[in-house]
Amino acid sequence: FFQEEDHQPLKGKKVLITAGPTREFVDPVRFFTNRSTGKMGYALAESAVELGADVTLVSGPSNLKPPYGVQFISVQSAEEMYESVLSHFDNVDLVIKSAAVADYRPRERHQTKMKKSDQDLSIEMDRTKDILKELGNRKSKQILVGFAAETTNVKHYAQQKLEKKNLDLIVANDISQQGSGFEGDTNQVYIFDRYGKEIESTLLSKKQVADMILNESCRLLEGLNN
Ligand code: CTP
Ligand code: CA
Repeated sequence: FFQEEDHQPLKGKKVLITAGPTREFVDPVRFFTNRSTGKMGYALAESAVELGADVTLVSGPSNLKPPYGVQFISVQSAEEMYESVLSHFDNVDLVIKSAAVADYRPRERHQTKMKKSDQDLSIEMDRTKDILKELGNRKSKQILVGFAAETTNVKHYAQQKLEKKNLDLIVANDISQQGSGFEGDTNQVYIFDRYGKEIESTLLSKKQVADMILNESCRLLEGLNN
């Protein structure tokens, strides 16, 4: 379904969205991951298509069906997501990084299944690359939107991430609150832009939150700062 032309503010714009968790394998059968389902990112992709954008969705493992009309790229690890996102970055107008990217991955990936022994096990972990921070360093014309998943000092940490990663907009959710963050169909968010605008949403569906984020992104793409 396509809306009428004058409701398509993203017509002709290229939008890159990341969604879902990543998987960091330690052997052929085991991996580190997190609770992300991809719902927020897929809702964003759907909203962006409705607004007329040319949408690429880079997704970690998720059970969801890619929204109609998106260019879909499936990845597993943070490293694969990094490669995919960086390869598209120069050509896009707007990037929304809703993926829950692993911060660490096992130093070693065993080629065969690890066998148990009588000893305890500890696994050495290396930091993954911060994809969003890299985009913030490289950005030219692009509008960059990040997420912040927090359990304490939500607004403070979110504002720190906005600055540190050179973002235009950040969407923060308090994942310790009922109805917010992982797995559910609803979300309650704070949205901050780089010019000091602050929005606190009520408890909304993830699709409504997606529409709100895209609305703010369109405003920034048009160069309107309030
Ligand atoms: N992010 C990323 N690459 C990573 C880690 C995070 O691109 N390796 C992005 C996420 O997609 C999100 C934003 O950075 O848009 C914030 O993620 P979050 O986990 O809240 O923050 P971190 O910077 O990883 O800090 P911390 O986990 O310590 O709070
Ligand atoms: Ca993190």
